[in-house]
Amino acid sequence: MEPFRTVDLTPRDAELIQQTAKVAYEASKSISKIWLPTVEAAIEEVHESLEREGISQVLLDGHRVAAWIGASPQFSGRVVEIHPLIVARGYHGKGLGRWMVNQVEAWARQQGALTLWIGTSDETHATSLSGVNLYENTGPVIASFHQVAPHPCGFWLRLGFHIVGVLPDAEGIGKPSIMMAKPLQQKGGEAHED
Ligand SMILES: CC(C)(COP(=O)(O)OP(=O)(O)OC[C@H]1O[C@@H](n2cnc3c(N)ncnc32)[C@H](O)[C@@H]1OP(=O)(O)O)[C@@H](O)C(=O)NCCC(=O)NCCS
Repeated sequence: MEPFRTVDLTPRDAELIQQTAKVAYEASKSISKIWLPTVEAAIEEVHESLEREGISQVLLDGHRVAAWIGASPQFSGRVVEIHPLIVARGYHGKGLGRWMVNQVEAWARQQGALTLWIGTSDETHATSLSGVNLYENTGPVIASFHQVAPHPCGFWLRLGFHIVGVLPDAEGIGKPSIMMAKPLQQKGGEAHED
């Protein structure tokens, strides 16, 4: 990934936090009107990521923030949630998102996590999971998932994540959060405890 380098964000990196927040604010516009409405909200989001257990890392292109990823353990470390993942506008489609996720995946495996997951909202009616009743026939509705417009879901599917659930109306009526997960140790759910 030359000349890129990964740096752990810390609360002391005021300039880097500010820059990361601006990148997140700009990149989030394409997916959400709610999530990061202002740069101030994005600065708060960066600080929140630093307060969580786990990692918050940026990928620097020289001194410029090209991507930001956060990941935190849950369920006593058996599960790791990625939140957020942001690739700066201008750097999309160059493999940076995949590279960041791969780094976190390696870290999560090393920690002994079994499951890596993300939640991605559909606020823009870009998938077949928006605008439908997700309380009925939930399994078949998920099984017939398809995109009707560009959405980050496509990225996560490409990286081997599966849709494992939905949280109805998470972002407003008919606007669900889509839960996607990837098994880390063996094919998910197939091991049996004695
Ligand atoms: C989604 C995002 C993280 C992808 O990062 P990226 O660096 O552009 O993606 P990559 O170049 O690493 O792409 C990896 C693969 O996913 C594919 N891909 C990327 N975005 C995709 C999308 N929206 N839909 C379908 N496929 C996608 C790429 O074509 C590539 O496929 P390949 O295996 O054929 O090479 C980036 O577009 C982004 O930050 N968007 C705004 C914020 C966001 O949506 N974050 C995720 C919130 S859940």
